[in-house]
Amino acid sequence: TNIILLGPPGAGKGTQARILTEERGLVQLSTGDMLREAKDSGTEMGKIVADVMARGDLVTDEIVIGLIDEKLRDTDAKGFIFDGFPRTLAQADALGELLQRSGHRLDAVIEMRVDDDALVDRISGRYTCGNCGEVYHDKTKPTKKDGVCDECGSSDLRRRADDNAESLKQRLMEYYKKTSPLIGYYYAMGDLFTVDGLAEIDVVAKSITNVLDQAK
Ligand code: AP5
Ligand code: ZN
Repeated sequence: TNIILLGPPGAGKGTQARILTEERGLVQLSTGDMLREAKDSGTEMGKIVADVMARGDLVTDEIVIGLIDEKLRDTDAKGFIFDGFPRTLAQADALGELLQRSGHRLDAVIEMRVDDDALVDRISGRYTCGNCGEVYHDKTKPTKKDGVCDECGSSDLRRRADDNAESLKQRLMEYYKKTSPLIGYYYAMGDLFTVDGLAEIDVVAKSITNVLDQAK
């Protein structure tokens, strides 16, 4: 199974990708996570992308396509969840070619629909575990114990450099300008399914399960 999760910043792509990974043994490919890792480990590429990401602009197609290409090569996974990729028409075309090359096919593109007001609340309350990547929220999904990750016990809980009002505005602009055309692109290919991303986390997960049963 190969799935794309499509939606604006804060729609819940990462949250649902983690649930799908656990339930179905699929591999999550988050270009955002890969880029943050490159930044944290201080590689040449990491240095180039750090400012771009902090501003809320998109990194070049060349860089992110390269990252995905590498991941699709070096694993014999059951399938992939593309989280935050593709984000431009050029990336969508490239993904189509990469999947074809490796004999995979796309099963579903799931558009997670959430309105802008809710996105601001979600982004401003988000924090993640630096050790295992679990995603939390001050109001909707706090850790059970203060300052400690439920999943792995780490106290390395972090907030993202781009989760501020100004960068979020830019990330939303980039989404509407460059990424939202992919909705029409995948609709035309017959691969698009839309779920209500405003529902509670478990309810969204259920809608995604329904979509995947339908897409089989
Ligand atoms: P990326 O890391 O992909 O960020 P994003 O798309 O802005 O998405 P987010 O991670 O902010 O949100 P999400 O949808 O995963 O939501 P989450 O599950 O965390 O990209 C960051 C940057 O990297 C980009 O700006 C760009 O610079 C660069 N980049 C990455 N990929 C690129 C590409 N392909 N091309 C070019 N540049 C690229 O949830 C958000 C919060 O809400 C959490 O606190 C969560 O607990 C909570 N929540 C989730 N679901 C629910 C729910 N149903 N109800 C209530 N709360 C919920
Ligand atoms: Zn953790």
